[in-house]
Amino acid sequence: MNAFSTIIGTGSYLPPRRVSNDRLAADLAADGIETSDEWIVSRSGISARYFVDPGVPCSDLAAAAARRALDAAGLDASAIDLIVVATSTPDMVFPSTACIVQHKLGITNQCAAFDLQAVCSGFTYAVTTADAFIRSGQATNALVIGSEVFSRILDFRDRTTCVLFGDGAGAVVMTAAERPGVMASRLHSDGRHVGILCVPGNVDHGAVSGNAFLRMDGAAVFRLAVNVLEQVAVETLAAAGVTAEQLDWLIPHQANIRIMQGTCRKLGLPLDKMIATVAEHGNTSAASIPLALDVAVRDGRIRHGHKVLMEGVGGGFTWGAVLVEM
Ligand SMILES: CC(C)(COP(=O)(O)OP(=O)(O)OC[C@H]1O[C@@H](n2cnc3c(N)ncnc32)[C@H](O)[C@@H]1OP(=O)(O)O)[C@@H](O)C(=O)NCCC(=O)NCCS
Repeated sequence: MNAFSTIIGTGSYLPPRRVSNDRLAADLAADGIETSDEWIVSRSGISARYFVDPGVPCSDLAAAAARRALDAAGLDASAIDLIVVATSTPDMVFPSTACIVQHKLGITNQCAAFDLQAVCSGFTYAVTTADAFIRSGQATNALVIGSEVFSRILDFRDRTTCVLFGDGAGAVVMTAAERPGVMASRLHSDGRHVGILCVPGNVDHGAVSGNAFLRMDGAAVFRLAVNVLEQVAVETLAAAGVTAEQLDWLIPHQANIRIMQGTCRKLGLPLDKMIATVAEHGNTSAASIPLALDVAVRDGRIRHGHKVLMEGVGGGFTWGAVLVEM
């Protein structure tokens, strides 16, 4: 009896165009917007991000990351029977990016495919969802993807937000297993904070209504994030009966190095137990955790048997954590 799910492969994809802080500052200066590498690094820990070229859709990044995860898992795409794509920047209003990815991967077995919207917490929500499908017997091999083209929703006249985000995708293959795998997960949201991080626009009668750019109250987000990330980590570890000292790695959502280090310290973990890719990737929203996971798996830090706590936080307000044994 396979009562659990486990991660058997990871993959990621970054678009080729790397934009350093200096490059971004120079581009913004041409439009009269002043910023600097020094400001961005000191406030966020970000040195660079990757942006897609115009017209490159979320599904291209998602499919590229998924192919690498399938390769790592040694699984043919035809064996996948569930696709979940966490994204806030889908290709279209509908159909889902997951259906488009299914087609791009040549999966014709009519498996379930859907998008999941929990902004920067999306990957923790998606892994938890796939775990529930697998544990209930509704799926055996799931492709779980976080993919974003946030550059499409950044207002490059707003220096308080446009310097913080980037594009990218990360993916995992999850499969049914006799032993966990996913040891515990906890998800939360609080809709009272809808307005502090949002893209308050939509399509309406053939036009964009409202504002289709990302808006953020950075200070409010910062305050909430540090508190909920600690709470949900403690809650998830307790649910699994695992202590913080027993953790091999913490992978927090890669939004801001100050929030990430604060969470690490509150949990009493040494900073070298935290996987941090925010300096090189910026905040890639739902893609940030699987991107960081894949980097650390491929460079040999995260190994078979390691206990890894992944934590997301973002618009909604949403937050969640997943504890896995790799
Ligand atoms: C956004 C954030 C980096 C701002 O950092 P901060 O230290 O609070 O900075 P402040 O907002 O106090 O701004 C300080 C000054 O820098 C200025 N500033 C803002 N963006 C700037 C930029 N890109 N370059 C230069 N100066 C900038 C502000 O205008 C302000 O100037 P003022 O004091 O003259 O008004 C911080 O609030 C943050 O990280 N919030 C969480 C963001 C996040 O993680 N979001 C995603 C969650 S999923």
